[in-house]
Amino acid sequence: MKLFVYHTPEAVPPGTPDCAIVVDILRATTTIATALAAGAEFVQVFASLHDLDQVGNSYPPGYCLRAAERGGKRVEGYDLGNSPLDYTPDRVKGKAILLSTTNGTRALQRVSHAPQVLTAAFVNLAVITELVQQQQPETVWIVGSGWEGNFSLEDTACAGAVVDRLSDRYELGNDEAVAAHALYSQWRHDLEKMFQRASHGQRLLRLNGAADLAYCAKCDLLRVVPCQKEMGVLRAL
Ligand code: MLT
Repeated sequence: MKLFVYHTPEAVPPGTPDCAIVVDILRATTTIATALAAGAEFVQVFASLHDLDQVGNSYPPGYCLRAAERGGKRVEGYDLGNSPLDYTPDRVKGKAILLSTTNGTRALQRVSHAPQVLTAAFVNLAVITELVQQQQPETVWIVGSGWEGNFSLEDTACAGAVVDRLSDRYELGNDEAVAAHALYSQWRHDLEKMFQRASHGQRLLRLNGAADLAYCAKCDLLRVVPCQKEMGVLRAL
């Protein structure tokens, strides 16, 4: 059984793994886990706001919340942005969340053809890695979202945390998996500090996102497995 890490959606090769795990620590996959743990029915992801709006118009009024982020900011006119702290049970319970973000939704689309697609963040790391340990898919691709095609420290570090928890059963399939593990080992005791060094962490700090960084650094807080059930639609397993 082999684990592969890809730093960005652009680095994902042709082919299909048995299981793909998408990571966008700051903040899409942290937000998806938080929304589903808070009782949202599902999170549907969209690359374009136009597609999001079209699908939103097809739902009965009040059933869905439209969430959109660009450049770390909530897009004006949408119900929610991408701060996980806004996804509280009183806001999202029983709702469909239609979400479009700068990079995370693109990473999900890149592997959406895999038979199993999960999303992981530090907040739900334990439950994701336990599931993989139980199911033992032959090949696992961990895909970071990066930032507009470039490497991002926090996604690769989380990929390294997944590698860390699975490496007793899995062989590391590429150099990126070895590098991700080394990166995680360097920062594992101070993830928040790593986020503060990361370029997107600094962008969020400029947008008053310190509380988001602190939340995204919490490990094993939620027992929720976001799993793609139909193309682009994530539900709690
Ligand atoms: C993304 O998809 O690029 C993000 O999650 C950005 C953010 O909201 O911080």
